Amino acid sequence: MPEESASAPVTTISTIGQHEGQSVTLRGWLYNLRESGKLLFPIFRDGTGTIQGVAHVKSVSPEVFEALKGLTQESSVIVTGKVRADKRAPGGYELDVEGLQVVQRVPESDPYPITPKEHGVDFLMEHRHLWVRSPRQASILRIRAEIMRAAAEYFDTNGFIRTDPPILTPAACEGTSTLFPVDYFGDPAYLTQSGQLYIESTALALGKVYSFGPTFRAEKSKTRRHLTEFWMIEPEVAFMDLDGLLDLAENFISHIVQSVLRNRAPELAVIGRDPAKLAAITPPFPRLRYDKACEMLNQAHRDGHLEAPFEYGNDFGSPDETWLSNQYDKPVMVHRYPADVKAFYMEPDPLDSRYALCVDVLAPEGYGEIIGGSQRVSSFELLNSRIDHHKLPKEAFQWYLDLRRYGSVPHSGFGMGIERVVTWICGLDHVRETIPFARTLHRIYP
Ligand code: 4AD
Ligand code: MG
Repeated sequence: MPEESASAPVTTISTIGQHEGQSVTLRGWLYNLRESGKLLFPIFRDGTGTIQGVAHVKSVSPEVFEALKGLTQESSVIVTGKVRADKRAPGGYELDVEGLQVVQRVPESDPYPITPKEHGVDFLMEHRHLWVRSPRQASILRIRAEIMRAAAEYFDTNGFIRTDPPILTPAACEGTSTLFPVDYFGDPAYLTQSGQLYIESTALALGKVYSFGPTFRAEKSKTRRHLTEFWMIEPEVAFMDLDGLLDLAENFISHIVQSVLRNRAPELAVIGRDPAKLAAITPPFPRLRYDKACEMLNQAHRDGHLEAPFEYGNDFGSPDETWLSNQYDKPVMVHRYPADVKAFYMEPDPLDSRYALCVDVLAPEGYGEIIGGSQRVSSFELLNSRIDHHKLPKEAFQWYLDLRRYGSVPHSGFGMGIERVVTWICGLDHVRETIPFARTLHRIYP
């Protein structure tokens, strides 16, 4: 690569304001080009942002003008130019082009497939490896990275130790119907659905722990909310009860949202997300018993807002969740579901054992569940009988039962799906744009 000249240091578009009035070198790609006779208006992108350049036939050498004129979209370039403040420019600056080197020119015969015109989402998903270059998609990925950074930061700075559970596991955590089997040297094994059971062990070793990694669900459901591979961050805390868990969840989510507002405002603007809705996300969050949520859903049905009446004792369906989460401008924490619809490891409410000490956090604006969690069964006898009742393989759960044999304590934790949170914070219609390469029921390419 030809390096920067002393007179035009290499910089990036996001930091170009530090060089106002000076010549700089940018390394990137041609995003778009407008030509108007003797004037060329290229838009460059470099991964940190986009900037419009201006090249007049008289202001650059004939070679540079020729190289830029008719240059094809996504050709890679090294460009030098003088930084000029311009209030009308989206980033506040424009570049008066001085020099240009084309690193690779995209041939006219095989043009870049994603043009600024509208494409169908199937076409875009088929070209996801290129689609991630578009400013909107790149902004979503930057916001995703900030959400993951802030999530880990919250735990790292609040006394939690990150412990990584295995991905290859011998048994189910979240029910047997969504397991991905793998052949483990002739024995059956599964891709993990959640790190929870393993970090219950490390929580009893270290006190406050979390895990952060990919998780897998062989979901046959083709919804806007389901991926087969997604990233989950899960805290687990010894001696914490459900109330403590609700406090943790609201502080954790608020920290993430406020970090995105602080550090990713330009990206929110690129994707057109109203920051005012996010600014309201501060503790405390509303807390709602499952039974009360059911009453609200039934009333909504009677008022004609929901098609189907809600059947008490079920898990919420997608339309129910959407309606409920539309009633609040903050995430709502629905707690104490009937134990029968929830996982085997959830502690029953000592005041009424028909209910589980659990919580689902529903994001506002209709986005639905982003967190699922609970206090965990701490009694050996109860856990043992639950494992029998759910017909889980007793042998594979002996180690998990040990956690109730040796120094069992009340403990709680939750799991938050990163992609659900990105969907909500970015205000997207579909979870598929929140991860670089989405894995869904019908897609495993590219
Ligand atoms: O509610 P879930 O199934 O809870 C658990 O897995 C617990 N073991 C977590 C724990 O207590 N440590 O999943 C947790 C979160 C959901 O709230 C949702 O955000 C996300 O994981 N999630 C999915 N995200 C995308 N696609 C899917 N198919 C998802 N399934 C769950
Ligand atoms: Mg759940």
